[in-house]
Amino acid sequence: MTDNALPQSVQSWSASDYAKNGRFVQDLAGPIFAMLSAKPGERVLDLGCGDGTLTTEIKAAGADVLGVDLSDELLAVARMKGLTVRKADGHELDFVQEFDAVFSNAALHWMRAPDLVIAGVARALKPKGRFVGEFGGHGNVSAIATAMRAVAKTRGGDPSHVAPWFFPTVDEYSDLLVKNGFTVQEIALVPRPTPLKTGMEGWLRTFGRSFFDQFEEPERTAAVNEALELLGPSLCDSQGRWTADHVRLRFSAERNA
Ligand code: BEZ
Repeated sequence: MTDNALPQSVQSWSASDYAKNGRFVQDLAGPIFAMLSAKPGERVLDLGCGDGTLTTEIKAAGADVLGVDLSDELLAVARMKGLTVRKADGHELDFVQEFDAVFSNAALHWMRAPDLVIAGVARALKPKGRFVGEFGGHGNVSAIATAMRAVAKTRGGDPSHVAPWFFPTVDEYSDLLVKNGFTVQEIALVPRPTPLKTGMEGWLRTFGRSFFDQFEEPERTAAVNEALELLGPSLCDSQGRWTADHVRLRFSAERNA
C-alpha cells in the first residue's frame, strides 16, 4: 500500500455492513452506467469494484471486465459471483494500454492522491480509451462531516479522522484530467440527496468508523447518538426517514491519442 492509500482500518469493509448500509452506492449508478455504454467484447477495468455489483452489470453487457479493489473481503464476495477480480491499489495501477474503458463508481473519493490514480488510468487505457466515473464531489456529506466535527469538539476527539476523503470541485478534477492527457467530455457536480433505507446510524457506523473508533464504548455509542441528534433537524423527516446530503462529481473523459 502507498502512503496515499487509506490505512486498512479505514477501508476494511465488512461485506455484510457494506451490502446493508452501502446499497445506495449501486442503486443509483444508472446515469454513469449509461455514460459508460459498455459494448460486447470491450475490455473494461472496474476501478474500486467493491463486491462486484456493477462489475456484474458490465459483464452482462458483454464486456470482458476486470474488477480491482483493495478490500479482500469485498473481493471475496465478487469472486463468489464468478467475476474476475484482483487486489490492487488504485494509486499503483500497472496496466499498460490494455483497456477500452475504465469505469469507477463511488470509489475515487477514497483515493487521496488523485494525480497518481489518473496517471495510472491513462496508462491502462488504449489511446482514445474512455474514463467514466462518479464519486463524491465538493460539498459531499458536508452536514454529516460538520456534525462529526462538532462531536469531536464536545468530546475532546481528534477531528482529523472525520473526512478521509477527496471531494474535488469540477475545476480541480478537470485540471487533473487534462494534465494527465485526457480530454474532458462531460463533468458536473450533481446534488443527489440519497434516502438511507437503513437509517443514519448504519451510515455513521460504517463510513464514519475511522472517526468513531477513537472512542471506547460506551462513549462511542454516545458519540454516534450525539451526531444523530445534531443531524436530525436537517436530514431526518417527520416520519423518521433519513437522507444523506450527497453531491456527486460525474464525468466522462477520453484519453488523448
Ligand atoms: C459517498 O458515496 O458519497 C460516500 C460514501 C462513504 C463515505 C463518504 C462518502
